[in-house]
Amino acid sequence: MTVPIVIDCDPGHDDAMAILLALASPELEVRALTTVAGNQTLDKTTRNALVVLEVAGRTDIPVAAGADAPLRRELHTAAHVHGVSGLDGPELPEVSQRPVDAHAADFLAEVIEPGVVLVPTGPLTNVALMLQRHPDARPDRIVWMGGAIAEGNITPAAEFNAYVDPEACALVFASGIPITMIGLDVTHKALFTRAHADRLRGAGRAGTFVAELSDFFQLFHERSYRFDGSPIHDAVAVAQVIDPTLVETRHANVAVETASDFCDGRTVVDLRGVTQREANADVGLDIDAPRFLELLVERIASLA
Ligand code: BDR
Ligand code: CA
Repeated sequence: MTVPIVIDCDPGHDDAMAILLALASPELEVRALTTVAGNQTLDKTTRNALVVLEVAGRTDIPVAAGADAPLRRELHTAAHVHGVSGLDGPELPEVSQRPVDAHAADFLAEVIEPGVVLVPTGPLTNVALMLQRHPDARPDRIVWMGGAIAEGNITPAAEFNAYVDPEACALVFASGIPITMIGLDVTHKALFTRAHADRLRGAGRAGTFVAELSDFFQLFHERSYRFDGSPIHDAVAVAQVIDPTLVETRHANVAVETASDFCDGRTVVDLRGVTQREANADVGLDIDAPRFLELLVERIASLA
């Protein structure tokens, strides 16, 4: 049975790889992409989503642009990780497709129907706006890349997607919709190395594109973390929908900090139930890294 999904994203190198993984996977049917400001400004993340569809030859999939800023804060981008374009590295092709004439929050409400899984891979602004504007639009499940049990990345306390729009994040975690949180604790355990990239270089247009994305993305992780590869954060969320056995999760309460000088965007995960707060998420703890990385490489190579 194929699972229909919608990816709400801010491409971004790892968003791009997540989209390509989804497009290459027979277990999934990608119904739409929606875009949000995050890694770069909305005009760039939307253009980049169209670029990825162009590279994959899937311009039949609709794209809707959404929020150009968080609910109540100024936008922080991640140009230091993803570059000026948001997808620095490969030469980006011209795009032939136009976004649909609807705000992502409204378009999401249109395309979400029973059975559809929503996979947000950026700040949760569009998802929060959808819940506010269309209270009846409730996906069966949300599998979100974001948050961290332990250390953050954009601040010591917070992961980037949670940090950019903590109010939206808090609203989504309070919605009662089943949510799986794929945080840094999981994504940092599966590194895509230069050897993986070399297997894809020359494997068709998508493979070469991914290898060149990885060449750039790797620079930040080598410099900042001394990692011998890059976590492909967003692709783990897609992989978890393809094969839920890849990531070990625990049902727990997640509270999101929105009013702190040092900890805004912190996802406070009560793994041992010490707060008596009701569990509201399945939180990723561990990943079968070799199996995830093989899936990613093989599927993207299959797009050739
Ligand atoms: C997340 O932040 C973004 O930079 C990545 O695309 C990913 O969604 C990782 O913290
Ligand atoms: Ca992202």
